[in-house]
Amino acid sequence: MGPCSYLAALLFTGYAGANLVYKSRPDLAAPVLNITIPATNETADGLIFYTPESIYADNTGHGPAQSGPYIFTDKGDLVWTGFGYVGPRSENFLVQNYRGQQVLTIFEGSHNSPMGHGHGHTSIFDNKYRLLKQIKGGGHKLADQHEFLIFNNHSAVFTVYDPEIADLSPYGAKSDSQQWILDNKIQKVDTDTNRVLWEWSSLEHIDPAGTNLTLESGNAGTGVNSSQAWHYFYMNAFDIDVANNKYLLSARSMCTIFKMDGDTGKIIWQLGGPNSNFSLGEGVDFCWQHDTRMHQKYLEHETKGSKEIISFFDNSAHENLAGGPDLQTRAYSAGKVVELDTENWTSKLISEFRAPGGSLCSIAGEFAAASEWKCVH
Ligand SMILES: *[C@@H]1O[C@H](CO)[C@@H](O)[C@H](O)[C@H]1NC(C)=O
Ligand SMILES: *[C@@H]1O[C@H](CO)[C@@H](O)[C@H](O)[C@H]1NC(C)=O
Ligand SMILES: *[C@@H]1O[C@H](CO)[C@@H](O)[C@H](O)[C@H]1NC(C)=O
Ligand SMILES: *[C@@H]1O[C@H](CO)[C@@H](O)[C@H](O)[C@H]1NC(C)=O
Ligand SMILES: *[C@@H]1O[C@H](CO)[C@@H](O)[C@H](O)[C@H]1NC(C)=O
Ligand SMILES: *[C@@H]1O[C@H](CO)[C@@H](O)[C@H](O)[C@H]1NC(C)=O
Ligand SMILES: *[C@@H]1O[C@H](CO)[C@@H](O)[C@H](O)[C@H]1NC(C)=O
Repeated sequence: MGPCSYLAALLFTGYAGANLVYKSRPDLAAPVLNITIPATNETADGLIFYTPESIYADNTGHGPAQSGPYIFTDKGDLVWTGFGYVGPRSENFLVQNYRGQQVLTIFEGSHNSPMGHGHGHTSIFDNKYRLLKQIKGGGHKLADQHEFLIFNNHSAVFTVYDPEIADLSPYGAKSDSQQWILDNKIQKVDTDTNRVLWEWSSLEHIDPAGTNLTLESGNAGTGVNSSQAWHYFYMNAFDIDVANNKYLLSARSMCTIFKMDGDTGKIIWQLGGPNSNFSLGEGVDFCWQHDTRMHQKYLEHETKGSKEIISFFDNSAHENLAGGPDLQTRAYSAGKVVELDTENWTSKLISEFRAPGGSLCSIAGEFAAASEWKCVH
């Protein structure tokens, strides 16, 4: 199976109903993880970071009693709850390096449901859980929850979902009322001053005509107002090759992964979709994907010269906003590791990781490569 061996021995399927109870902290009611396949000595080391919350309307009995960021061991023991520190809505909870220490970065804000993006800011906590900074969108924009990466010790880069008014008649708008489109932006801001250092706009570089979720389909917003703005692109992840200032972008609504030059903002190549620069090897094809990552910086594989290694979570499913069954291209979702060759423009599936039981995931998804390149699904 190439550089990865399948060691995903931990699976949890939600909450076990009760809450964890602590005599010393009766105010806390952390969720109990329903661990259905316990971790073994072959599971990669590490803690579980997640931000449970109900995606349903209140009082339906779903979701945790206390939503917020949580850290658990893989045995289900609570390490930290951020309930009351952050949120109540929090997302994208990560450990990153900043000025010589490990920090926690957590998005907090509101969620535009069912459109699936956020409005808020990211808080950075130090390794003693003390608030260091809050990073906001600049230029009168609100940050979105999907990605937030510390670029070097001085800047942070994150997604911004910016609704704009545009003439959408070339894209199937039926009346003047359908005039809102989401421009997916990336902002880089100075972490000391919050000044915007750089901004990239999807609308400047990528034609909405190439989308798989058309305005007519109703599956990506109706375009009638700013909260229903058509998300033709839906950038739900990016990764940065800091040394070369190159970005890898996931455009969920286009079923395409783009590589972009951070100096010029231009697209270098695209994988998948109608204008793929690569032929797709067996099993590489994907749709409605999440969590695109570059691995040249981690792997001592044959990533030399024209070879690059990326990974992503291929959902193969999308929730149907227009009603009816979810859109589906496969019967299962999978984490995929793919080798790209930019000399002969080929792509090859190196490894594929399916959840035990082969479940399909239509909303989010994550595929983590642990430090020793063991994979956790
Ligand atoms: C844990 O998940 C399993 C598999 O989905 C389910 O059958 C079981 O009822 C769950 N347990 C609890 C206590 O919710
Ligand atoms: C893991 O545990 C099993 C059974 O307890 C044992 O046979 C195996 O050698 C252990 N593997 C490692 C890598 O420690
Ligand atoms: C960030 O700062 C730390 C501590 O000063 C240093 O070790 C590290 O190399 C710096 N990272 C970058 C990308 O400049
Ligand atoms: C996405 O759009 C392209 C171009 O129209 C088409 O070839 C492809 O079949 C579409 N894929 C899905 C899953 O709709
Ligand atoms: C936008 O339109 C939708 C659908 O018609 C409606 O439910 C929603 O309340 C509107 N939002 C705003 C901010 O006007
Ligand atoms: C990738 O494909 C696009 C569209 O067909 C084309 O314009 C572009 O030149 C190609 N890029 C490379 C690096 O070949
Ligand atoms: C590209 O294809 C040519 C002709 O088949 C081959 O000689 C060359 O080694 C290939 N390049 C790579 C990087 O695989």
